Amino acid sequence: MARIIGISGSLRQGSFNTALLRAAAEVAPAGVTIEVRTIHGIPLYDADVENGPGIPEAVMKLKDEIASSDGLLLVTPEYNNSIPGVFKNAIDWLSRPDADIARVFRGRSVAIMGASPGRFGTTLSQAAWLPVIRTLGMRPWLDERLLVFEARKAFDQAGKLVDPHTRERMVKFVEGYCAFVASRAG
Ligand SMILES: Cc1cc2nc3c(=O)[nH]c(=O)nc-3n(C[C@H](O)[C@H](O)[C@H](O)COP(=O)(O)O)c2cc1C
Repeated sequence: MARIIGISGSLRQGSFNTALLRAAAEVAPAGVTIEVRTIHGIPLYDADVENGPGIPEAVMKLKDEIASSDGLLLVTPEYNNSIPGVFKNAIDWLSRPDADIARVFRGRSVAIMGASPGRFGTTLSQAAWLPVIRTLGMRPWLDERLLVFEARKAFDQAGKLVDPHTRERMVKFVEGYCAFVASRAG
């Protein structure tokens, strides 16, 4: 069984990105699971905390989950045409200390998807993740893109992905990424 850790980069209760991640987890094909995680509980990065009390418990837990997984799925909102600070902050914590980057990130399969109420569906925030992924030495899966635009129309009030065309694209994306992860998990 291959295991993917999906992280939504939004703290919002009614988040479209968390809803998108849940929808992806529901359609993971046989032999692959997508576990839904958020960035709740991760404080602002502070080197004095790292060098004093140490890496926060929520960060340690997520690091260990990623380290024991077969792949990572970043589900990113877009703020001001880039990565939301709260999400980047979480990945920055997860990349500490440097000596642990190899265990947590290096060589790990990663895919990016995202949703926004606008017309471009996180194009620029997804692109902004690429240098971060490269820096951490991850192995991106770039065969498909999933940009969920006009998210208010795509999801219903309960956060269910109801637009059939978006759903079809999401399923194709998830199947493609899961096949990639499963093939690398051996
Ligand atoms: C500070 C800020 C900047 C934003 N900038 C963008 C943007 O550049 N592009 C975009 O499509 N949406 C932008 N939005 C709208 C977000 O896409 C929208 O709030 C979305 O619902 C956030 O994702 P979530 O539903 O997962 O919380 C911005 C929202 C905030 C709060």
